Amino acid sequence: MQKLLVTGGSRLSGELSLQGSKNSTLPIMAAALLAEGECVLRNCPRLTDVYSASRILGCLGCRCSFADSCAVIDSGAVSGTEIPEHLMREMRSSIMFMGAILGRMGECTISIPGGCELGPRPIDMHLAAMKRMGVEVRDSGGRITCRIPSGRAKGARISLPFPSVGATENIILCAVTAEGETVINNAAREPEICDLCCFLRECGAEINGDGESRITINGKAHLHGCIHTIMADRIAGATYLSMIAAAGGEIILKNACTAEMEPFLSVLEQTGCSIYSGDDRIYMRSTGRLKAVRDRIRTMPHPGFPTDAQAVLMAALATADGTSVFEENIFDCRYRHTDALVKMGADIQVMGKVAVVKGVPELHGAEVNATDLRGGAAMITAALAAKGTTEIGCISHIDRGYEKIEEAVRLLGGSVRRV
Ligand code: EPZ
Repeated sequence: MQKLLVTGGSRLSGELSLQGSKNSTLPIMAAALLAEGECVLRNCPRLTDVYSASRILGCLGCRCSFADSCAVIDSGAVSGTEIPEHLMREMRSSIMFMGAILGRMGECTISIPGGCELGPRPIDMHLAAMKRMGVEVRDSGGRITCRIPSGRAKGARISLPFPSVGATENIILCAVTAEGETVINNAAREPEICDLCCFLRECGAEINGDGESRITINGKAHLHGCIHTIMADRIAGATYLSMIAAAGGEIILKNACTAEMEPFLSVLEQTGCSIYSGDDRIYMRSTGRLKAVRDRIRTMPHPGFPTDAQAVLMAALATADGTSVFEENIFDCRYRHTDALVKMGADIQVMGKVAVVKGVPELHGAEVNATDLRGGAAMITAALAAKGTTEIGCISHIDRGYEKIEEAVRLLGGSVRRV
């Protein structure tokens, strides 16, 4: 099992071009199944989750290859409708293929998806929406068989009880080739959904309202291939800014999606970091001694503070002057990284969905294990600020969402080795 050895305690300085967004790439790779031709995805990040998605495409009869920072997907000869359980379990996004396979083939067999352990991650909203679109769903011992008796889904009006990102994406993937109009009320507004819809429009789909709470889709019988550039990864951006904020120093973040990062930047500014941003780049300077954030940091659906940035900002605030309070409103169990931060000297009290982070003068190196993707990134962030060396195990979690993480940290001047 590989580990990262991170030696902290020195100021960082560097510049970094932001990777393509994992949470945009994965639904778009599923969407490529709907195109009866070749799709080229530029700025495609090299992540283990992306390779998992390419294996799923392969077993459905698609050709998927990678060249430089592009993925090329040819879905002309799609034949399969079933995803093996072991591939479903590799990541949460495997559930996205349900809507895409139904949209292309009219039937599919999947199982419960895997993904980061952030508490229960049901798919009830996904399945309820498919049923509204005329899909018959049968669940026998975790193997889920879906079929559309007429062969083509029917447009429907769907109101989501919660603006679920994945459920919104799955409905879109099934609706773009359905018969008639689909309206999604209380849709998720995350930027990655806008990127997915931009991709699908480039394939000939008719979608309006993405980025707002009401999305309207008029189904088309056939979609064609396209060339699309994946948006930048706003969470990876938040992660690298948090690393500099924690350790002290400065960063130029290039190919940044500044507007989409605003909900995070507006909180980061309250820590005393100096942030100057243009359309696609951000300059930030930090003394390394942050101010605690006065107001409670509540994770909310976009455009609220992103839950995926909670762990890394917490790591940066562990050595702030004063006490910051987090409230995790999206997932039931998204504080699993706090044990590791406490082992490194942080003072964090978790009570249900609230975490109270009392700033300490300094952190020290320790042996820790990544618990999930963003929790692992938080451990690197804390380790860069800590005195001494931290050994981080289970880094396969981190490789799921961060492209060449140790190269990125070294570009920022950090001392990190993969062993
Ligand atoms: C997506 O997960 C992201 N993953 C997550 O990023 C992100 O944290 C999350 O959206 C929220 O922004 C990808 O895009 C691949 P949800 P998803 O459906 O779609 C509950 C990362 O670190 N829910 O919006 O799974 C669910 O349990 C990952 O990159 C139901 O109850 O998130 C959760 O509490 C982690 N029933 C809440 O809704 C359902 O049918 C939000 O989940 C679906 C969801």
